[in-house]
Amino acid sequence: MATTVRHSTDRDVGRCTEIVRSLPDHFTDDVPEKVERDLAAHSGWVALRSGAVVAFAIVDRRSSEAAEVLWIAVDDAERGQGVGSALLDRVMSELADAGVRVVEVKTLDESADYEPYIATRAFWAAHGFLQIDTIDPLPDWPPGNPAAICVAALAVSRGPGAR
Ligand SMILES: CC(C)(COP(=O)(O)OP(=O)(O)OC[C@H]1O[C@@H](n2cnc3c(N)ncnc32)[C@H](O)[C@@H]1OP(=O)(O)O)[C@@H](O)C(=O)NCCC(=O)NCCS
Repeated sequence: MATTVRHSTDRDVGRCTEIVRSLPDHFTDDVPEKVERDLAAHSGWVALRSGAVVAFAIVDRRSSEAAEVLWIAVDDAERGQGVGSALLDRVMSELADAGVRVVEVKTLDESADYEPYIATRAFWAAHGFLQIDTIDPLPDWPPGNPAAICVAALAVSRGPGAR
């Protein structure tokens, strides 16, 4: 089934928080409110299948050359079918076109020994994200949630080819 991706609008907020609520093993109760706030403050994208929004991503532009994927989630019923990849590929491609050279994501570190995030880390690794650090505790994250800090380069930052 084809997946299409577009920028989010105010009308997508309710559906995005519904997607968060479909993933109770991945997101705590405070996340829908944070997603609503972040959709208003940052750039968002949604992925659609058969005309329905099934996934979203939110990106914070930290500078002209660096960005963080704050959130990405696929409705639980649609996971594992390439939707997350289609969405992230589009986001990364737009960021590269806009001059971004490095993209960060924070996820749950493997030392948490929590099964649901094994697939999440595999997803980031499959998309070229390299873990560069583990921070525990991370400010704003609940205690007992070691953060894996991962980055992917969209362009070289030194040597031949660097701007
Ligand atoms: C993580 C997430 C966004 C990935 O989206 P998805 O549509 O499920 O993933 P895709 O089908 O595009 O998978 C892409 C690749 O990720 C890896 N992957 C995905 N699911 C996996 C699983 N269950 N086990 C191992 N690897 C997996 C594979 O390398 C896969 O490529 P392949 O299908 O060629 O093997 C989605 O599953 C999700 O919303 N998870 C819960 C919320 C979450 O963890 N968000 C990120 C927080 S940091």
